[in-house]
Amino acid sequence: MPVYCITGANRGIGLEFVRQLAQSSDNTIIAATRSLSSDLDDLKAVASPSTHTVECDTSNLQSIHSFVKDTSRILGDKKIDFLLNNAGVNLGSWQNSLALGPDELHALLAVNVIGPAKTVELLLDAGLLSADARILNMSSVLGSLQRSSGPGPRQYAGYSISKAALNMLTVHQSEDLKQHLPGAVVISMHPGWVKTRMGSDAAPLEPSESVEQMLKVLHRVGGEDTGTFCDYSGEAIPW
Ligand SMILES: NC(=O)c1ccc[n+]([C@@H]2O[C@H](COP(=O)([O-])OP(=O)(O)OC[C@H]3O[C@@H](n4cnc5c(N)ncnc54)[C@H](OP(=O)(O)O)[C@@H]3O)[C@@H](O)[C@H]2O)c1
Repeated sequence: MPVYCITGANRGIGLEFVRQLAQSSDNTIIAATRSLSSDLDDLKAVASPSTHTVECDTSNLQSIHSFVKDTSRILGDKKIDFLLNNAGVNLGSWQNSLALGPDELHALLAVNVIGPAKTVELLLDAGLLSADARILNMSSVLGSLQRSSGPGPRQYAGYSISKAALNMLTVHQSEDLKQHLPGAVVISMHPGWVKTRMGSDAAPLEPSESVEQMLKVLHRVGGEDTGTFCDYSGEAIPW
């Protein structure tokens, strides 16, 4: 009876995770969403009886604290087996590295880096992560230093910087968690270029295909994979 926790579950890739996981009544799902007062019709439409919608604004420390308390109340003795740090933003996409807006960069780092860091930390402190938890930090190929190097136009400087920082977080979390949860695995994953509000209609991949493959990868990773970076099909991506 695995327990999944997904942030940014109300639309896009996060919603698709809930849709696919809710098809099995064995799965307990914590569907975390930035605000319970926003339109959650799509989430309600895919939720199973064992799906619990919980508020978590991952850019807000107080909200993450409340989320952890709510999740603890819901799970009782159960723990999270799969944590999908999926919530993310791409702001100021017009910017390049010579025109970075500090406000946009702070906001990107708050959601894309500090959010996943504090979510893991506070869930761990509350004893809510299982001994062999699988943690997926939703990254992007745009966070790969190697793929971004060389001649050619750069894209989305602030977003790339935040996802590169998230990748470094993965490397640190994978090591730091060993003393607390020796069986835990933390990976960074690129979901592909996916048709969502962020990915746009021009994207070649449907959320269903990306998520189906990501779940396969997530279910087969082992200790040797912790602290690595791959795409939705499991293919390694250079840092
Ligand atoms: N789509 C792609 O091609 C692509 C490619 C590479 C990586 N990714 C990554 O994949 C993840 C999901 O992206 P997506 O394509 O599904 O994007 P999306 O359709 O824009 O959805 C983003 C999700 O993140 C949530 N979110 C944003 N800020 C939040 C906050 N402060 N607290 C809680 N939730 C917040 C959004 O909630 P609201 O509705 O409340 O805003 C929404 O549920 C992101 O981390 C993104 O960087 C996507």
